[in-house]
Amino acid sequence: MAIGAIASMVSVALAEIFGPDLGAPAGTLGHVTSVEIVIPRPDDWHVHLRDDEMLDAVVDHTARWFRHALVMPNLTPPVTSTAEAQAYRVRILDAASVGADTFVPQMTLYLTPTIDVDDLVAGWKDGVIGGVKFYPAGATTNSDAGGTNLLDFEATLATMVEFGIPLLVHAESTDPTLDIFDREAAFLEQQVGPLLAYMPELSVTVEHISTAAGIDLVNEFDQAYGSITPHHLSCDRSDILANGLRPELYCKPVINSAKNRRALVAAATSGNPKFFLGTDSAPHPLSQKEARVAKAGIFNAPYGLQVTAEVFYDCDALDQLAAFVSLNGAVRYGHEPSDDELRLVRNQSPVDDVVELITTAAGDQVRLFGVAEAGRWSVTAV
Ligand code: NCD
Ligand code: ZN
Repeated sequence: MAIGAIASMVSVALAEIFGPDLGAPAGTLGHVTSVEIVIPRPDDWHVHLRDDEMLDAVVDHTARWFRHALVMPNLTPPVTSTAEAQAYRVRILDAASVGADTFVPQMTLYLTPTIDVDDLVAGWKDGVIGGVKFYPAGATTNSDAGGTNLLDFEATLATMVEFGIPLLVHAESTDPTLDIFDREAAFLEQQVGPLLAYMPELSVTVEHISTAAGIDLVNEFDQAYGSITPHHLSCDRSDILANGLRPELYCKPVINSAKNRRALVAAATSGNPKFFLGTDSAPHPLSQKEARVAKAGIFNAPYGLQVTAEVFYDCDALDQLAAFVSLNGAVRYGHEPSDDELRLVRNQSPVDDVVELITTAAGDQVRLFGVAEAGRWSVTAV
């Protein structure tokens, strides 16, 4: 940590790093007492809020800290019309008991052959719809309604070009002959790259990038952006497998190698405006997550900010945190950064009474990701 530095950031955010030479807060001792950073209220540009009792149990964890939440449409059945998205948005806001003045769910439609482009355009113009999500059928949770080829949706994509509607891509090949750790790169090479070249005006976010190949592709094409999750930034595949199998780290796309993780961290901490936070928070009941066949998805909404802050702290890049979590995504999706601010404080002594499980009204437990980092960092609204 560069203790001597006061990290300066764009004018909307201020980072303050306290060390003894800079005047430690009263009552603190040691060479580093605490690190404090103030950032504009962040946005989560990829989140699964589910429905019913699960929605009730998880939504406040997003609404408490995030402003925009780009809500994924992979319900059963999937969200494919503006009316369904609007009804879902109302259920989300009804379920939230915090963030009344700050929380803005931004809805997405699931790209299927049944999408009515006039309805999509109307939802986009009304500000209900923020993007259209493509799932390769069978690649992940509730993706059965997805497609096999992006270009099968050429007519819808052409309309999206016309109106500037973002395409959000889950980039993962479903070819069973391919190694699971190579499937993102394969899908990018086989489908996303050719699509970007074919439709250079189509605005695309490569979601939850898990490999260097994803970073490279986003950098290659002007019209491409990338969201990155806290878990892909903080873990590699050895964390899943090396010290006992940890099903809570299983997600799609799978957490990849240490080398790939380093490429993600480099991109996220670089300040490059093409990359921003999308937590991909994806809660599943413990009974399905720690089962013989475990569901893919990590519930990181509660502690995703703390995990991300710890990654940036570890590589001495806290001065870039606001860009990654609060600014870059807002600019990409056409918004001003928030006027609200959050204060994140890293405590020298971690606390160990952090909540590890929540329980829904239906009696399902859900495990929280990032407990260690949550013990390190406290977050408050300024
Ligand atoms: C997500 C889910 O559970 O809905 N799971 C996941 O592993 N990320 C779906 C997705 O985004 O792939
Ligand atoms: Zn997701």
